[in-house]
Amino acid sequence: MRVALDVNGERHVLDVSDTRRLVDVLRDDLGLTGTKVGCAEGACGACAVLLDGRPVASCLLLAAQAEGCSVTTIEGISRGGPTPLQEAFVAEDALQCGYCTPGQVVSATALLASLPQPTPEQVRAAMVGNLCRCGAYPRIERAVLRASGQGVD
Ligand code: FES
Ligand code: FES
Repeated sequence: MRVALDVNGERHVLDVSDTRRLVDVLRDDLGLTGTKVGCAEGACGACAVLLDGRPVASCLLLAAQAEGCSVTTIEGISRGGPTPLQEAFVAEDALQCGYCTPGQVVSATALLASLPQPTPEQVRAAMVGNLCRCGAYPRIERAVLRASGQGVD
C-alpha cells in the first residue's frame, strides 16, 4: 500500500506492506535511527515519537496509522541543535548507555510543551512509560526539572 507521511516537516510517499510498523519505516526507510527499538511491544518507550505533539510508541503503530498526522522524531526535535532539555540531560549527566535517551527526550519534550513547570511527581508520572535499564531515573528527573527552570542547586 502507499502511504504519505509527514515526518519532521517533510512529506514522504512510500510503498509499504499494510503490516509495516511506523518505527521500521522511520529507521529503515527514512534513516531516522535516533528512534530506538527496545522491547518492540509497547513497554519500554525507546521508540517514542510525537504524533501530533503527543508521545506514542512507534513500535505499536502501523505506518498507515500515522498518515494524516505530523510525526516528530528525535531528529526533528533537535533539528536546530540541542534543545535546552537536551542540554539539561548533559548537564545532569542523565544518561549512561544512552539507548533510552531519545525516547526520554521525546516524552519530556511533550511534557514540557503541555506543562512548562511540572512538579517532580508530574515528571515521574509523565515519564513512567520510559524505562532506563541503566537506572538513570533520578538524573533524568533532575534534567527535566532543570530544563523547566526548577530543581537546580
Ligand atoms: S520498543 Fe516500542 S515501547 Fe519498547
Ligand atoms: S541510559 Fe542506558 S538505558 Fe537509559
